[in-house]
Amino acid sequence: MAGFPHKYAHQWDNKYQTAKGLLYGDKASDYLATCVKKHQLPIGKAFLPGDGEGRHARFLARLGYDVVACDISHVAVTKAKAEDKREQLILGRVVADAKRPPFAPNSMDLVAVMYVHVPPDERRIILRAAAHLLKKNGHLVLEGFHPDQVTLLGKGPGRAELAYDPELICGELAPWRMLEAEVTQTTLNDGPGHQGEAYLTSMIFAKEP
Ligand SMILES: C[S@@+](CC[C@H](N)C(=O)[O-])C[C@H]1O[C@@H](n2cnc3c(N)ncnc32)[C@H](O)[C@@H]1O
Repeated sequence: MAGFPHKYAHQWDNKYQTAKGLLYGDKASDYLATCVKKHQLPIGKAFLPGDGEGRHARFLARLGYDVVACDISHVAVTKAKAEDKREQLILGRVVADAKRPPFAPNSMDLVAVMYVHVPPDERRIILRAAAHLLKKNGHLVLEGFHPDQVTLLGKGPGRAELAYDPELICGELAPWRMLEAEVTQTTLNDGPGHQGEAYLTSMIFAKEP
Protein backbone atom coordinates (compact mmCIF):
# COMPACT_ATOMS: atom_id res chain seq x y z
CA MET A 1 0.00 0.00 0.00
CA ALA A 2 1.30 3.49 -0.87
CA GLY A 3 2.87 5.22 2.13
CA PHE A 4 3.02 2.05 4.21
CA PRO A 5 4.82 1.31 6.43
CA HIS A 6 4.25 4.78 7.86
CA LYS A 7 7.46 6.82 8.11
CA TYR A 8 7.21 6.97 11.91
CA ALA A 9 6.29 3.31 12.42
CA HIS A 10 9.88 2.32 13.20
CA GLN A 11 10.24 5.13 15.75
CA TRP A 12 7.04 4.07 17.52
CA ASP A 13 8.11 0.41 17.38
CA ASN A 14 11.33 1.34 19.21
CA LYS A 15 9.46 3.28 21.88
CA TYR A 16 7.08 0.41 22.58
CA GLN A 17 9.87 -2.18 22.38
CA THR A 18 12.04 -0.42 24.94
CA ALA A 19 9.20 0.47 27.34
CA LYS A 20 9.11 -1.38 30.61
CA GLY A 21 5.60 -2.87 30.50
CA LEU A 22 2.90 -0.77 28.85
CA LEU A 23 4.20 2.66 27.81
CA TYR A 24 0.87 4.39 28.57
CA GLY A 25 -0.47 1.89 31.09
CA ASP A 26 -3.81 0.11 30.94
CA LYS A 27 -6.07 2.77 32.43
CA ALA A 28 -8.26 4.61 29.94
CA SER A 29 -8.67 8.38 29.95
CA ASP A 30 -11.19 9.56 32.56
CA TYR A 31 -12.69 11.77 29.85
CA LEU A 32 -13.64 8.82 27.64
CA ALA A 33 -15.33 7.15 30.62
CA THR A 34 -17.13 10.39 31.48
CA CYS A 35 -18.35 10.86 27.90
CA VAL A 36 -19.86 7.40 27.71
CA LYS A 37 -21.80 8.06 30.93
CA LYS A 38 -22.62 11.74 30.66
CA HIS A 39 -23.69 11.72 27.01
CA GLN A 40 -25.29 8.29 27.34
CA LEU A 41 -23.45 7.02 24.29
CA PRO A 42 -25.15 3.91 22.96
CA ILE A 43 -23.12 0.72 23.32
CA GLY A 44 -22.39 -0.28 19.74
CA LYS A 45 -19.50 -0.45 17.34
CA ALA A 46 -16.37 1.60 18.08
CA PHE A 47 -13.16 2.42 16.24
CA LEU A 48 -9.92 3.56 17.90
CA PRO A 49 -7.29 4.91 15.52
CA GLY A 50 -3.72 5.00 16.89
CA ASP A 51 -4.73 2.88 19.89
CA GLY A 52 -1.14 1.90 20.72
CA GLU A 53 -1.03 -0.90 23.29
CA GLY A 54 -4.78 -0.81 23.43
CA ARG A 55 -5.91 0.71 26.74
CA HIS A 56 -8.84 2.68 25.29
CA ALA A 57 -10.12 -0.12 23.06
CA ARG A 58 -10.01 -2.53 26.00
CA PHE A 59 -11.91 -0.05 28.17
CA LEU A 60 -14.73 0.12 25.59
CA ALA A 61 -14.68 -3.65 25.03
CA ARG A 62 -15.15 -4.18 28.78
CA LEU A 63 -18.26 -1.99 28.56
CA GLY A 64 -19.64 -4.23 25.83
CA TYR A 65 -18.66 -2.28 22.70
CA ASP A 66 -17.77 -4.22 19.58
CA VAL A 67 -14.33 -2.66 19.05
CA VAL A 68 -11.86 -2.38 16.20
CA ALA A 69 -8.58 -0.51 16.47
CA CYS A 70 -5.52 0.25 14.39
CA ASP A 71 -2.00 1.50 14.90
CA ILE A 72 1.00 1.93 12.62
CA SER A 73 3.28 0.18 15.14
CA HIS A 74 3.26 -3.59 14.84
CA VAL A 75 5.05 -3.82 18.20
CA ALA A 76 2.21 -1.86 19.86
CA VAL A 77 -0.45 -4.00 18.15
CA THR A 78 1.33 -7.21 19.23
CA LYS A 79 1.49 -5.94 22.84
CA ALA A 80 -2.17 -4.88 22.66
CA LYS A 81 -3.24 -8.31 21.41
CA ALA A 82 -1.32 -10.02 24.24
CA GLU A 83 -3.10 -7.84 26.80
CA ASP A 84 -6.50 -8.48 25.17
CA LYS A 85 -5.84 -12.21 25.35
CA ARG A 86 -4.74 -12.04 28.97
CA GLU A 87 -8.07 -10.37 29.76
CA GLN A 88 -9.98 -12.72 27.45
CA LEU A 89 -11.33 -9.77 25.48
CA ILE A 90 -12.14 -10.16 21.81
CA LEU A 91 -11.28 -7.10 19.71
CA GLY A 92 -10.32 -6.50 16.09
CA ARG A 93 -6.81 -5.07 15.86
CA VAL A 94 -4.87 -4.28 12.72
CA VAL A 95 -1.58 -2.67 11.83
CA ALA A 96 -2.85 0.13 9.60
CA ASP A 97 -2.60 3.84 8.97
CA ALA A 98 -5.56 5.72 10.46
CA LYS A 99 -5.61 7.85 7.30
CA ARG A 100 -6.93 4.77 5.48
CA PRO A 101 -8.69 2.62 8.06
CA PRO A 102 -9.76 -0.72 6.54
CA PHE A 103 -13.36 -0.57 7.79
CA ALA A 104 -16.72 0.08 6.14
CA PRO A 105 -18.11 3.63 5.86
CA ASN A 106 -21.08 4.54 8.08
CA SER A 107 -20.45 1.53 10.29
CA MET A 108 -19.32 3.00 13.64
CA ASP A 109 -21.30 4.46 16.54
CA LEU A 110 -18.21 5.87 18.19
CA VAL A 111 -14.71 6.87 17.12
CA ALA A 112 -12.25 7.86 19.85
CA VAL A 113 -9.03 9.59 18.79
CA MET A 114 -6.93 9.51 21.94
CA TYR A 115 -3.51 11.16 22.14
CA VAL A 116 -2.80 10.76 18.43
CA HIS A 117 -0.36 13.63 17.89
CA VAL A 118 0.41 13.97 14.22
CA PRO A 119 1.08 16.93 11.89
CA PRO A 120 -2.01 19.03 11.05
CA ASP A 121 -2.33 17.71 7.47
CA GLU A 122 -2.28 14.13 8.70
CA ARG A 123 -4.68 14.92 11.55
CA ARG A 124 -7.18 16.43 9.12
CA ILE A 125 -7.09 13.28 6.98
CA ILE A 126 -7.48 11.06 10.05
CA LEU A 127 -10.50 13.09 11.20
CA ARG A 128 -12.00 12.99 7.72
CA ALA A 129 -11.53 9.21 7.64
CA ALA A 130 -13.21 8.99 11.06
CA ALA A 131 -16.14 11.00 9.68
CA HIS A 132 -16.57 8.49 6.84
CA LEU A 133 -16.64 5.59 9.28
CA LEU A 134 -19.19 7.10 11.64
CA LYS A 135 -22.91 6.59 11.25
CA LYS A 136 -25.10 9.68 11.19
CA ASN A 137 -25.47 10.88 14.81
CA GLY A 138 -22.41 8.82 15.76
CA HIS A 139 -19.96 10.38 18.19
CA LEU A 140 -16.35 11.42 17.96
CA VAL A 141 -14.35 11.75 21.19
CA LEU A 142 -10.97 13.46 21.00
CA GLU A 143 -8.34 13.93 23.64
CA GLY A 144 -4.73 15.02 23.51
CA PHE A 145 -2.25 17.52 24.83
CA HIS A 146 -3.14 21.19 24.54
CA PRO A 147 -0.46 23.38 22.84
CA ASP A 148 0.39 24.78 26.32
CA GLN A 149 1.84 21.36 27.12
CA VAL A 150 4.64 22.19 24.71
CA THR A 151 4.88 25.97 25.02
CA LEU A 152 4.48 26.30 28.82
CA LEU A 153 5.54 22.94 30.18
CA GLY A 154 8.15 22.21 27.51
CA LYS A 155 7.06 18.57 27.17
CA GLY A 156 4.53 16.49 25.27
CA PRO A 157 4.43 15.84 21.54
CA GLY A 158 7.43 18.07 20.77
CA ARG A 159 5.89 20.75 18.57
CA ALA A 160 2.80 22.82 19.45
CA GLU A 161 1.27 22.14 16.01
CA LEU A 162 1.05 18.44 16.91
CA ALA A 163 -1.08 19.27 19.95
CA TYR A 164 -4.84 19.82 20.04
CA ASP A 165 -5.84 23.46 19.75
CA PRO A 166 -9.61 23.38 20.45
CA GLU A 167 -10.37 26.27 18.10
CA LEU A 168 -8.48 24.69 15.23
CA ILE A 169 -10.14 21.34 15.81
CA CYS A 170 -13.59 22.97 15.89
CA GLY A 171 -12.80 24.63 12.57
CA GLU A 172 -11.67 21.34 11.06
CA LEU A 173 -14.87 19.64 12.20
CA ALA A 174 -17.06 22.64 11.42
CA PRO A 175 -20.20 20.89 10.15
CA TRP A 176 -20.33 18.70 13.24
CA ARG A 177 -22.21 19.47 16.42
CA MET A 178 -19.79 20.08 19.29
CA LEU A 179 -21.30 18.76 22.50
CA GLU A 180 -18.45 19.76 24.77
CA ALA A 181 -14.90 21.07 24.75
CA GLU A 182 -12.67 21.52 27.73
CA VAL A 183 -9.09 22.40 28.49
CA THR A 184 -7.88 21.08 31.81
CA GLN A 185 -4.75 21.13 33.85
CA THR A 186 -4.24 17.77 35.47
CA THR A 187 -1.69 15.25 36.65
CA LEU A 188 -1.23 12.14 34.54
CA ASN A 189 -0.15 8.82 35.96
CA ASP A 190 -0.79 6.53 32.99
CA GLY A 191 2.46 4.65 32.64
CA PRO A 192 6.05 5.74 31.99
CA GLY A 193 5.00 7.60 28.80
CA HIS A 194 2.43 9.88 30.49
CA GLN A 195 3.52 11.18 33.86
CA GLY A 196 3.12 14.45 35.71
CA GLU A 197 1.53 17.81 35.12
CA ALA A 198 -0.38 18.11 31.85
CA TYR A 199 -2.61 20.45 29.88
CA LEU A 200 -5.26 18.49 28.01
CA THR A 201 -7.82 19.27 25.34
CA SER A 202 -10.89 17.02 25.51
CA MET A 203 -13.83 17.27 23.09
CA ILE A 204 -16.88 15.38 21.95
CA PHE A 205 -18.77 15.91 18.68
CA ALA A 206 -21.88 14.38 17.14
CA LYS A 207 -21.82 13.71 13.41
CA GLU A 208 -24.42 15.69 11.56
CA PRO A 209 -25.45 14.81 8.02
C1 LIG B 1 0.97 8.90 22.09
S1 LIG B 1 0.58 7.34 21.41
C2 LIG B 1 -1.05 7.08 22.08
C3 LIG B 1 -1.50 5.65 22.04
C4 LIG B 1 -2.92 5.43 22.56
N1 LIG B 1 -3.90 6.15 21.80
C5 LIG B 1 -3.02 5.79 24.03
O1 LIG B 1 -3.63 6.84 24.34
O2 LIG B 1 -2.49 5.04 24.86
C6 LIG B 1 0.23 7.73 19.70
C7 LIG B 1 -0.02 6.49 18.85
O3 LIG B 1 -0.45 6.90 17.55
C8 LIG B 1 0.09 5.99 16.61
N2 LIG B 1 0.04 6.64 15.29
C9 LIG B 1 0.69 7.75 14.87
N3 LIG B 1 0.34 8.06 13.62
C10 LIG B 1 -0.57 7.12 13.23
C11 LIG B 1 -1.34 6.91 12.04
N4 LIG B 1 -1.22 7.71 10.98
N5 LIG B 1 -2.18 5.85 12.01
C12 LIG B 1 -2.31 5.02 13.08
N6 LIG B 1 -1.62 5.18 14.21
C13 LIG B 1 -0.78 6.22 14.30
C14 LIG B 1 1.48 5.70 17.13
O4 LIG B 1 2.02 4.51 16.63
C15 LIG B 1 1.20 5.62 18.64
O5 LIG B 1 0.88 4.31 19.04
